[in-house]
Amino acid sequence: MCGIVGYTGPQSAVTPLIEGLRRLEYRGYDSAGIALGTSDKLFVEKKAGKLSNLESALGSVPAVHSGIGHTRWATHGGPTDRNAHPHLDNEGKLAVIHNGIIENYSELKAELEKHGHKFQSETDTESVAHLLSDLRKEHNGNLTIAMREAVKRLRGSFTLLAVHADQPDLIVGVRRNSPLVVGLGDGENFMASDVAAFIEYTKRAVELGQDEVVTITPTSISITDLEGNALKPREYQITWDAEAAQKGGYPHFMLKEIFEQPKAVADTLLGRMIDGRISLDELNLSDAELKSLQKIVVLACGTAYHAGLVAKYAIEKWAHIPVEVELASEFRYRDPIVDKNTLVIAISQSGETMDTLMALRHAKEFGARVLAVCNTNSSTIPRESDAVIYTHAGPEIAVASTKALLTQIVATFLIGLHLAEVRGSLNSSQVSEIYNEMLELPSKLEQILETVEPLRELTRKFTEKNTVLFLGRHVGFPVALEGALKLKELAYIHAEGFAGGELKHGPIALIEEGTPVIAIVPNTHEHGLDEKMLSNIQEVRARGAKVIAIASEGIEIPGAAHIIRIPNSPQMLQPVLATVPLQVFAYEMACARGTDVDQPRNLAKSVTVE
Ligand code: M6R
Repeated sequence: MCGIVGYTGPQSAVTPLIEGLRRLEYRGYDSAGIALGTSDKLFVEKKAGKLSNLESALGSVPAVHSGIGHTRWATHGGPTDRNAHPHLDNEGKLAVIHNGIIENYSELKAELEKHGHKFQSETDTESVAHLLSDLRKEHNGNLTIAMREAVKRLRGSFTLLAVHADQPDLIVGVRRNSPLVVGLGDGENFMASDVAAFIEYTKRAVELGQDEVVTITPTSISITDLEGNALKPREYQITWDAEAAQKGGYPHFMLKEIFEQPKAVADTLLGRMIDGRISLDELNLSDAELKSLQKIVVLACGTAYHAGLVAKYAIEKWAHIPVEVELASEFRYRDPIVDKNTLVIAISQSGETMDTLMALRHAKEFGARVLAVCNTNSSTIPRESDAVIYTHAGPEIAVASTKALLTQIVATFLIGLHLAEVRGSLNSSQVSEIYNEMLELPSKLEQILETVEPLRELTRKFTEKNTVLFLGRHVGFPVALEGALKLKELAYIHAEGFAGGELKHGPIALIEEGTPVIAIVPNTHEHGLDEKMLSNIQEVRARGAKVIAIASEGIEIPGAAHIIRIPNSPQMLQPVLATVPLQVFAYEMACARGTDVDQPRNLAKSVTVE
């Protein structure tokens, strides 16, 4: 959850560091700081609050050519100047930045204090700066060896970068359960939590495995394991372009990302049907293995979990396989009934969510095969999975997930159709029919986005409300949960999503005069779903609720104060469309209430701590 960047090369380091931090600020924004590699002593500036505070505090900065920068999401120690990274050794010559948690920091601190080290902060990270300082001295000033030895003493999850004033052009990094990538430039090199930090300068990246220690200078990169054995850099090409990580004229990344959804969905579908069959070669499972599957378990958090809930309806209906959807943060504490005939689908935009990563490792211990659905190339979750289907949403910078969700739903639909095809539960014309309906989603999304203006005006009527309830049935239920999550995280309004059938089992007591209730009206008469939701609308309206209905064209909704129309689609595909007005609703509400849309309080984009 913190953002880390390192630069060494011919540029004045402050520029790529600050630009990199700006692109990584989505990872945390409690404080920001940099250390520049001037010889003699390091130049360090750090400030609580957003990156802009650091920028204002930076007076004249030495024109040096290497350094490290950090943007923080606080875990140990409050968001103060003192607790901001980088952290220094007592001589002020060695600086460390860190993403993750050092679990044994108190014992290290006690030991280091006994040896005379004086601590300045309340963080877990500072213990690493002092430890590295001692180990570097023990190893004749070799920072790389010191890092290897330090890591052997650390427990927890971490990405660490360190610089020392005696060798200012050299930066050493390491990762365990937290992300770190190297960017290979021309006479310059970078390290960062995410390629977005250096995408403007290079498209050549190197991925790093667990416990790999990397040392960069402007012209070299060397990677070793903890025993010092040299490892070959695994280089890959970054496909995202620098522009994709900019706001492109929109006031917020979130709005830009909402409007990118038609393309994101189209890109995720691109080339997925060849000769009348769903093409998912990356699945890495033979038809025989797919036929022998007895169960699917979806693991995910937050919005990605909602994608999993939608997937359950589709995969069970199309492929006739039981699907369990689990909150990754809970799954790992259970003794799950999974084995080699279970396919685990780990859904994650970032590919770095610690809860999902730990849950997938837990599932693997029981012999399950793991398939990742992920948006971020070469991130940890796909690397640790047996196979990966990448969503093609492009970089999602706003903390609130939008286009990632839609592409995750579409990717899991493709998995469901492929399974149905292989297992014979749908014939090829049924699969093609559903796939062709999916191909129409991008243009239907365009239509929704062309007509959001009235919704924006409508939202303004509700900005003073303190509670908003969302109702859905069938696949509309996860949509209701997602609508509530978006409103909570963006507008800081108490919001709850309920299954329509659960209303009278308790939640209806929350309704009072004027309570806004957003109802997702099903697109089907099957099982009387539409009628049941219309009854729910009457029930809440009778108790004073103001109902806003999200419904397909042509469906009459007696009792609704407002109706937001979305294009018709088969019921199973409706979440892809019905979610969009709810995203816009939350976005507008946040703007009207003056909250920070792209960086809501207390949150971070990728949650790399448990
Ligand atoms: O990167 P991931 O998809 O694994 O992230 C999972 C959740 O942290 C994420 O979806 C979160 O709930 C979003 N901020 C919600 O908008």
